[in-house]
Amino acid sequence: MDDDRHVASLDEVPSDGTLLFTVRDGDGLAEVILVRFDDGVSAYKNYCQHWTDVRLDKGSGALVRNDEIVCQKHAATFECDSGYCNFGPCEGSYLDTVEITVRDGEVFLTDDEYTFERLGPSGETAQSSGSRIDFTGT
Ligand code: FES
Repeated sequence: MDDDRHVASLDEVPSDGTLLFTVRDGDGLAEVILVRFDDGVSAYKNYCQHWTDVRLDKGSGALVRNDEIVCQKHAATFECDSGYCNFGPCEGSYLDTVEITVRDGEVFLTDDEYTFERLGPSGETAQSSGSRIDFTGT
């Protein structure tokens, strides 16, 4: 598999959070999160399905609890293995999946829609054109 599709080692994906990376598609840069589940790792676009300009991982890992990714805006929870929202204002929706594969303990991007850009955030604070003020603060 191409080295330029290599994202990270599986060991770099935390068991209690997410690993953020940036991809490029036809529209520019986009953020993706890697998250562990029982016997694997999944990749999702880094935004909530309730408000798509709210990032799940703001750069230091999303909140992961009981095998669920928690949106810290209004507490929607998404199952790590499927991306299914089982609670919250967007209940019944799914996070947008990005195709990856794991080979010999290394994670590779296999989704033809994207090219791997870098580990870490995109440098853009909003995922959509309609910016929204984030009241959660830190
Ligand atoms: S923005 Fe995520 S639950 Fe509302």
